[in-house]
Amino acid sequence: MNCAVIVAAGSGKRMGASIPKQFLELDGRPILSYTIEKFDTSEDIDEIVIVTNAENTEYVKNVIATPFKKVKTVVAGGAERSNSVFNGLSALDKSCDTVLIHDGVRPFVTHEQIKRIIDKTREYGCCVLGMPVKDTIKLCDSGGIVQTTPDRNLLWQAQTPQAFSYDIILNAHKQAIADGFQCTDDSMLTERLGHKTVMVEGSYENIKITTPEDMDIGAKILERQKLQNKRKEG
Ligand code: C5P
Repeated sequence: MNCAVIVAAGSGKRMGASIPKQFLELDGRPILSYTIEKFDTSEDIDEIVIVTNAENTEYVKNVIATPFKKVKTVVAGGAERSNSVFNGLSALDKSCDTVLIHDGVRPFVTHEQIKRIIDKTREYGCCVLGMPVKDTIKLCDSGGIVQTTPDRNLLWQAQTPQAFSYDIILNAHKQAIADGFQCTDDSMLTERLGHKTVMVEGSYENIKITTPEDMDIGAKILERQKLQNKRKEG
């Protein structure tokens, strides 16, 4: 059984809008509903759990999630992303084998990418969708002084979904809570326990809508994906 946890409990401070970015609209629909749709219509996904801010769980349950068939439940998130993920993992059916953890603000993930990462996770247990970086990356100290320039050929930007055997990631989250370990993505938690974690190629279109300019880029990507779908259907 393949399950998805979609986290959408952030406040979206960097967007500077009055509502969290996952509820902003692209072509008349909230970003989060596009994201849920990708997983709901994937033939490789059996069950979805959505995590959102406590004050929006009823809205997500009764409005955003209603058109979808595979949403098992909508649960409240926590102060940090990792708290939200843990709440989502805890709400999954215990017969889940592979879990995909995905940002609610990445609506442009494709069915092909979902299938690819599930196949690789069956083989390796821990996988991250990502792309090679295009820019040279500098590692700086907190004062902005460049310390070193890592070899660009070895650098990838991590995206979501990140996918894991359910037992491995649940245990990794419990361990991180016990150790007070802070993370910005889920694969950090399996890496630190020594699990081999495999990078799976995603796409540069799988952006995380974070700042206002991402809304314009997102509108273009949405247009292109709609055209591609029309061509496939026709
Ligand atoms: O903050 P960041 O850009 O890393 O957020 C990535 C995703 O994690 C977003 O979809 C956001 O809603 C979610 N998130 C969450 N709970 C938090 C913080 C972020 O579900 N406390």
